[in-house]
Amino acid sequence: MTKEKLLRAAAFARENAHPPYSGFKVGAALEDAAGRLHTGCNIENASYGLTVCAERVALWKAMSEGVRTFRRISVVTGAEQFTTPCGACRQLLWEFCGNIKVILGNLQGGSRTVQLADLLPDAFDDKAFR
Ligand code: THU
Repeated sequence: MTKEKLLRAAAFARENAHPPYSGFKVGAALEDAAGRLHTGCNIENASYGLTVCAERVALWKAMSEGVRTFRRISVVTGAEQFTTPCGACRQLLWEFCGNIKVILGNLQGGSRTVQLADLLPDAFDDKAFR
């Protein structure tokens, strides 16, 4: 699958974002090892703290369908600067997806690709106690 297709899927998912408090819409598209796409958007709530990020929605959707191996994730926002996943999402992506490529995109079609290990160096995971 092309990088462009992965970015388009995230941009499309972003349209369903529900950010009444921040106004910041985020879309994500997670590609699994079989080449299937699992998309997500951020959803905010009135008590704020239960808000879920686009990346996590995509990850939980995929895992709830039985998917366990992943290749890449794209994250698209309308910000001028590329938006990187928050710390909590970096941790979860690391634990469940490993060192995948993270493709950051904007609405103009620009993108930057980074490796998850570079976003979360010296990560903690179950290797510490397994
Ligand atoms: N957000 C995401 O969905 N993903 C990110 O990578 C960064 C932040 C959401 C959470 C919240 O709804 C809004 O963006 C502002 O923080």
